[in-house]
Amino acid sequence: MPVTTCIFDAYGTLFDVTAAARLAAGEEGFEALADAWPGLAADWRDKQLQYTWLRAVTGEHADFWEVTGDGLDWALEKAGLGERADLRERLMQLYRELSPYPEVPDMLGALKDAERGTGILSNGSPEMLSAAVQSAGIARLLDHVLSVESVGRFKPAREVYDLVTAAYGCDVGDVMFVSSNGWDAAAAAGYGFQTVWVNRAGLPMDRLPHRPHHVLPDLATIPDLAASL
Ligand code: LAC
Repeated sequence: MPVTTCIFDAYGTLFDVTAAARLAAGEEGFEALADAWPGLAADWRDKQLQYTWLRAVTGEHADFWEVTGDGLDWALEKAGLGERADLRERLMQLYRELSPYPEVPDMLGALKDAERGTGILSNGSPEMLSAAVQSAGIARLLDHVLSVESVGRFKPAREVYDLVTAAYGCDVGDVMFVSSNGWDAAAAAGYGFQTVWVNRAGLPMDRLPHRPHHVLPDLATIPDLAASL
């Protein structure tokens, strides 16, 4: 079925979630991160995601900015840096302006040249998504930036994926959904989207009820894949 609309997860897919800790580690005053930043970035991401799933299950929603701060607090304490308010503040600031992966602007540009709908569907709050999209300079390449805050529940709740067809006025089968999170791509495949898992780290396939339709090492060939479906 032809793809009319290409929708991207944001954090980890378009934006490099390890960039905040990596950049801070190179800044004056944050030498404590020199060796610790990869572990801190991994713990921060793991806890952030776990907290979204737990809050979705218990119905105790808080927006992704708050959950991101909670995950960072846990990771900083584990690294013995729990008292470093200056570091926390700088890491959160950097998280608002995460770098996009290098291929992102050209890839989105090629999709727009082919007159496909493009957009983001993310756990991120509208404010943090807007900051990231602006700082990456990709706002003009996206038709919609959809946040789970419209439904008050995190992925992979089905009502989150409903936001796409509502915004674009398309059918579920017209959508290609792209995520670096295996669980997000799997859930979106179960929902009915054509799905791509961007597996930069070469991780094993998640053992979940559904599997992504395609696995790619990065985003560069997304326009070609969308044209071929
Ligand atoms: C997002 C998270 C899952 O952007 O990375 O939705």
